[in-house]
Amino acid sequence: MAASRPKVIVTRRLPEPVETRMRELFDVELNDSDTPMTREALADAMARADVLVPTLTDRIDQALLAQAGDGLKLIANFGAGFDHIDVQTALQRGILVSNTPGVLTDDTADMAMALILGVPRRLKEGAMLMRYGDWEGWSPTALLGHRITGKRLGILGMGRIGQAVARRARAFGLQIHYHNRKRLRPEIEAELEATYWESLDQMLARVDILSVNAPHTPSTFHLLNARRLQLMKPTAYIVNTSRGEVIDENALTRMLRAGQIAGAGLDVYEHGASVNPRLRELDNVLLLPHMSSATEESRVEMGEKVIVNIKTFADGHRPPDQVVP
Ligand code: DGY
Repeated sequence: MAASRPKVIVTRRLPEPVETRMRELFDVELNDSDTPMTREALADAMARADVLVPTLTDRIDQALLAQAGDGLKLIANFGAGFDHIDVQTALQRGILVSNTPGVLTDDTADMAMALILGVPRRLKEGAMLMRYGDWEGWSPTALLGHRITGKRLGILGMGRIGQAVARRARAFGLQIHYHNRKRLRPEIEAELEATYWESLDQMLARVDILSVNAPHTPSTFHLLNARRLQLMKPTAYIVNTSRGEVIDENALTRMLRAGQIAGAGLDVYEHGASVNPRLRELDNVLLLPHMSSATEESRVEMGEKVIVNIKTFADGHRPPDQVVP
């Protein structure tokens, strides 16, 4: 790889300041269109690049990695989640993978909080009433939601984002419960006043609101399957700002329709933009188009992280945000 100016191919439009900096630093090929590359274009890019900068809309699997050129040494993902990249196969082929953790933590946690507040308080239904001019004035009984203060929030996945959600939620008087592969250090648990549940099943049966903050991995795929969803109270709400695949979307849709779960606030879906139409038509869901990290600040800082990962690697060191399978 040309250490000073590696050939970098970017698959999507990135924020303008990021593209400008990349032009200064690298021999960069930017993508003028903001639609995902076709598989053929992606294969061609991987055959020609020293560094590929993909996003979560590019599925980089074994078949595609088999077509990578000898020059490709780094996949510097623009994004924190890397479940769309077969990291193991990449490593076997001598290609490192990096991501952009940390910089989108606060914005993602803010959006989780917005859903935690917005779904039990029926924000979408109220906004729709105003949007379509159907409001007939204040009523003592209309659009009654449920109080947030004092309720139990269960956090599934207590990494950076889960902890940021917990900090925010405490300020709203929620009691924090969590399930995670590893228990937090005692001082963090004490700071968050968080109750640890080794058993996810037991936690699900007790919480009023569940926030999903676990990444999608082989062990979290459909972690919230029909059996586990049925353990939840019919008055409980689910919020997901992580990855859709963690929830069995069909099972969740069935249960929301049947009133076995009170409502859901979702920013991510099992099949990306192909959202189950039966989910979209429900009143008790607030659906967003995968926008939890969509602030100018987060997206520019994500781009800056990509640049640091590439530069560090081109200078002969490990990228600071290298991911391991
Ligand atoms: C990520 O970085 O993985 C986020 O899902 C993008 O919003």
